Amino acid sequence: MKKKKNIAGRFLVLLKPYLFLSMALFLVITSISTVDAFFTYLSKIIIDQGIVAGNKQVVSDTLRLYGCIVIGQALLVFGLISLSGNIGERINRDLRKKMFLHLQKLSVSFYSRTPLGEIMSRVTSDSSKISELLSWGFVDSCWSGINIIVTMIFMFRINWELASFVLLLLPFMLLAAIFFQKRIIKHYRRSREVNSDMTRIYSENISGIKTIKALVREKKNLDGFNVKVGEMYKASYRAAWYSAFFLPVIQIIGSLGLGFVLWYGGTRSPETATGMTIGSIQAFVSYLFFMLWPIQELSRVFASMQNALAASERVFALLDQKVEIQDLPDARECPEIKDSIVFDHVDFSYTDKEMVLENFCLEIKQGTTIALVGATGAGKSTIINLVARFYEPGKGQILFDNEDYRYYTMASIQSKTGMVLQDPHLFNGTIRDNIIYSRLDASDEETMAAARGARVTDFLGDLEKGLDFEVGEGGTHLSFGQRQLVCIARILLANPEILIMDEATSSIDVRTENLIQQAIEKVTKQRTSIIIAHRLSTIINADVIHYLEKGRVVESGSHEDLIRKKGKYYQLYQHMELTEEVV
Ligand SMILES: Nc1ncnc2c1ncn2[C@@H]1O[C@H](COP(=O)(O)OP(=O)(O)O)[C@@H](O)[C@H]1O
Ligand SMILES: [Mg+2]
Repeated sequence: MKKKKNIAGRFLVLLKPYLFLSMALFLVITSISTVDAFFTYLSKIIIDQGIVAGNKQVVSDTLRLYGCIVIGQALLVFGLISLSGNIGERINRDLRKKMFLHLQKLSVSFYSRTPLGEIMSRVTSDSSKISELLSWGFVDSCWSGINIIVTMIFMFRINWELASFVLLLLPFMLLAAIFFQKRIIKHYRRSREVNSDMTRIYSENISGIKTIKALVREKKNLDGFNVKVGEMYKASYRAAWYSAFFLPVIQIIGSLGLGFVLWYGGTRSPETATGMTIGSIQAFVSYLFFMLWPIQELSRVFASMQNALAASERVFALLDQKVEIQDLPDARECPEIKDSIVFDHVDFSYTDKEMVLENFCLEIKQGTTIALVGATGAGKSTIINLVARFYEPGKGQILFDNEDYRYYTMASIQSKTGMVLQDPHLFNGTIRDNIIYSRLDASDEETMAAARGARVTDFLGDLEKGLDFEVGEGGTHLSFGQRQLVCIARILLANPEILIMDEATSSIDVRTENLIQQAIEKVTKQRTSIIIAHRLSTIINADVIHYLEKGRVVESGSHEDLIRKKGKYYQLYQHMELTEEVV
């Protein structure tokens, strides 16, 4: 219950800047409903005082009034639609801004444990459900509620006895409508869920067709698909079944009411206190049908509310997601590192279960290149994640020139580090856009120099527009190696103090690797560099090589030292030499 209140409170916060607009909207809705109900009342006057009484003047006067009101009503409807659309879009805009800002603040750890699809559905469909609920949900429920109230008032004016009868029936009609709507929406939602499952199965079957054929999985996959098709049929059929039931039930209720009104009005003389004129009977019948629509509408909003509330909870949960790594209140700019980066007895784990680093110590001297080698899962990437402060140590500290790096701002630390990762990331745009992404104020000469340094120029000649070649989304118009070179050019241009390379050459052919190798040598010169590589050529030149095993450094030294030692690195080296000869 507290949760619900909480959500209502947060809705109010979202609506607060548009309080005035919302009040205007409420006024417009009330006016529209009143005018709607008044139309029927006018026809009662035309029938009773005009047609039945034979007074043509009343007919033409009332019709004139009718015409004026129609124009007013048209304006009101315009106001209603534009106002509610406006409020909805404004809330949508506010939410989008808030979420984008928050997503940028969230730590890498959040992204590593939250599936991308989940985040995307929250920022797109869930957030628009909130604005829809706050605009159209509000409009529909107000409109329907006010419609029912105003209609009841007019009914009471015409005949209080009959109106009381309708008032008694009202809750039952609403409950019946909600009963059906809830079920329709439930099954409809289920069918959409199954539909997205089916889409996934289709796409996996199409993209993985070779594997499926090779493993002769067709029969099994078909069986799995058939189960989903069956579920889809069931859910859709039930939704259709309830819909098919719903309308006739509402019609029967309406017709029963109609019969009752005709019997009641028809059997009483118009002159008695509870008697009705022809116009009154006609108006009452109109009102009765007039009320059926808002009842359906209200029940629909009610039933779909749960859906929208669930979506809102997901959006608010995202906005409430704690930013795990934040600057300390008095964090300073990180000055240039003159001496070293030191891991001082660092403990670290991603989850509560398993420690990745325990009591880990490492010194990286300024200006040197260190290489980290070791089996997959040894903790190499974890170390660089910690250096870049994507994560922070659990225990112990990381010292930049003897000062815990937590005293420095994240932005100043991250602007010191340039990373080239295994999977080069390019943004949609030209090669030039991607290179200057790291330094927007770079001149053309500087950009060209970076491109030359990273050997991007070697393949630019093959592209029709050179630096202005569009790389496509994720850089798909370039080969993998070319993308990596563009990333290196980006780093060269940024000229960071610390260079980090995590298996930047592991999925690249030998020729491109040679290019990248030359680019790397250029970048690592005169700079603190941490390199993780599977390829020997990249490692040999490092000043110090650290061999890691299960989060511990078991051997350190230069290539020659470690070869002489004939330990673990020596074994790895022999193995690597063998495989690289094959390549
Ligand atoms: N985001 C993560 N969440 C949980 N565990 C992780 C995560 N990243 C890595 N690990 C675990 O931490 C250990 C070290 O991983 P990592 O540093 O990536 O190894 P390496 O780069 O040497 O292959 C592994 O056991 C891995 O399963
Ligand atoms: Mg790794």
